[in-house]
Amino acid sequence: MSSNPLVHPVDHHLFVEDVSLTRIAAEFGTPCYVYSKAALTRAYVDFATAFSSRNTLVCYAAKANSNLAILGLFAKLGAGFDIVSGGELLRVIAAGGDPRKVVFSGVGKRAEEMQAALKHDILSFNVESEPELLRLADVARSMGKRAPVSIRVNPDVDPKTHPYIATGLKENKFGVAFEDAPALYRKAKSLDSIEIVGIDCHIGSQITEIAPFADALQKVLQLVDQLERENIALHHIDLGGGVGIRYKDEQPIALEQYAAALTAGLAGRNHQLIFEPGRYLVGNAGLLLSRVEYIKQGGDKRFAIIDAAMNDLIRPALYDAYHEAVVVAPRIGTPTELFDIVGPVCESGDFLARGRTLALEPGDLIALLSAGAYGSVMSSNYNSRPRPAEIMVDGAACHLIRARESIEDQYAHEKLLP
Ligand code: LLP
Repeated sequence: MSSNPLVHPVDHHLFVEDVSLTRIAAEFGTPCYVYSKAALTRAYVDFATAFSSRNTLVCYAAKANSNLAILGLFAKLGAGFDIVSGGELLRVIAAGGDPRKVVFSGVGKRAEEMQAALKHDILSFNVESEPELLRLADVARSMGKRAPVSIRVNPDVDPKTHPYIATGLKENKFGVAFEDAPALYRKAKSLDSIEIVGIDCHIGSQITEIAPFADALQKVLQLVDQLERENIALHHIDLGGGVGIRYKDEQPIALEQYAAALTAGLAGRNHQLIFEPGRYLVGNAGLLLSRVEYIKQGGDKRFAIIDAAMNDLIRPALYDAYHEAVVVAPRIGTPTELFDIVGPVCESGDFLARGRTLALEPGDLIALLSAGAYGSVMSSNYNSRPRPAEIMVDGAACHLIRARESIEDQYAHEKLLP
């Protein structure tokens, strides 16, 4: 039985909160994403509470899952948002989020996106290069506005000691090199249409140790001190996202220890703290529910061919990521066998889980766990497959928060030649 707290058995059927996954499959069809409102709420409240001793704003990284219902839930809980496109800004607003609590990250902001964000008075542009700063200054000037800016610095945290999906290394495209940051701040200070508000860094994702965060903070604080000596005062320090979750046997960071390590490093300073967690808030609050279509023996391998595929959840194909697979209503008497769980897409990379010992028969329901983050948002229509429905469970109720696409939805913007 799974140790993932999202699901629990009742009379041999897995439930999310008070709703059986068998009922959800019957009512909404498969494949579908299923989320728990209680799990989402708990994750947000835990994160926010860990930092309640300081002035902190939790800006949910919308890219992890930008369904309006999820954004709306976090907005009601008081969250701000980290966005990376004009599209995410409009989603946040449509969901009732406050644009004045929005930070705008990303290396390739277009002028129209900057305009929209300025119009809505966002909290901060996390600027990632000098050309971006100059473009932003032009756009703001043409609107008669001052753009609030934090520079995203690249703390170059040593990857050898901390192996993780790194974005805070010198050699990648994100942020401004640590040594170049002071000059860019001076430049920003010289521009009338720019208002310096903070400093930002984001070192990577699915991080399960505190040390890299603490190292990054120390480097950021060196810059903060240097800037203050030059009379460049900052209102906030944004430490990005990246806190990892348990997919299999990882030991995730304990939030209290993470908060204690960071707040100790910040003693004596009164900057507002900003975080941009994505995966932590949604990853373990969602699953992908799917049905076994066929069992097939291919040479030495036994395949369970399910109705979900790489277009629905690409993380296994793209990163060789592990998602626990559990049978929703385990049969008594069916022997367990070693299965590769694959989809119907015409690619050898179309697997969801490999080498799993399960008792499976055609027609059985399977749940792929920890699929709340970077699941539905990274789905596609490859093989003209409709993107799955999404369902939010709330106690004994379930709400359809995204209808399954139809084929007409898929080709609505295509045109035959005259
Ligand atoms: N802030 C910035 C600037 C980011 O680039 C990201 C994620 C986050 C916050 C949120 O990071 P989180 O707390 O979720 O680790 N598709 C990959 C993950 C890509 C993460 C991209 N940036 C995956 O499925 O693992």
